[in-house]
Amino acid sequence: GVKKKEVNVMVVGLDNSGKTTIINHFKPPDAKNHDIVPTVGFNVEKFKSKSLSFTAFDMSGQGRYRNLWEHYYKECDGIIFVIDSSDKLRMVVAKDELDLLLQHPDLKNRRIPILFFANKMDARDAVSSVKCSHLLGLETIKDKPWHICASNAVSGDGLHEGVDWLTDQLK
Ligand code: GTP
Ligand code: MG
Repeated sequence: GVKKKEVNVMVVGLDNSGKTTIINHFKPPDAKNHDIVPTVGFNVEKFKSKSLSFTAFDMSGQGRYRNLWEHYYKECDGIIFVIDSSDKLRMVVAKDELDLLLQHPDLKNRRIPILFFANKMDARDAVSSVKCSHLLGLETIKDKPWHICASNAVSGDGLHEGVDWLTDQLK
């Protein structure tokens, strides 16, 4: 068959937001992880969509590792930013990290697509994706295409819609 176009994406967001669980959903059955633990540093994972072959940098969201993110901005073609939509207390921390990312010299003035997952939509106190996007100030992002999807990484709801959008942007 025809080889799929290869793209690099970074998966970022605060610790416990669901990044590793989301990536795990897209891995082939034999490569799936049955016992997901907090990521240490980062892991490189591969998965495919309809027309693309993704290399995903699954970054740790813990405070002590967040300084690693910027080292991979140069090589990335797209970003997946995961938000725990039930973690209202840390929404402002997520916004601070997003603002740092958007202002970074290696990302500024590059039209790279950003897919946001308003994850854990199944949680009782989850805010809607619209509310999430207001809290993070997404409407102020003018130099990059972006999209937000509500998701439940445990059931898989919303994940394909998001990755289909990203695939359209990158294909
Ligand atoms: P770090 O690697 O520490 O940065 O965290 P992470 O963003 O990779 O989070 P991880 O995928 O390890 O998930 C953290 C916890 O949230 C796990 O217990 C997951 O099962 C749970 N989780 C992930 N997504 C969802 C979701 O959509 N709904 C619910 N209810 N739980 C979720
Ligand atoms: Mg992780």
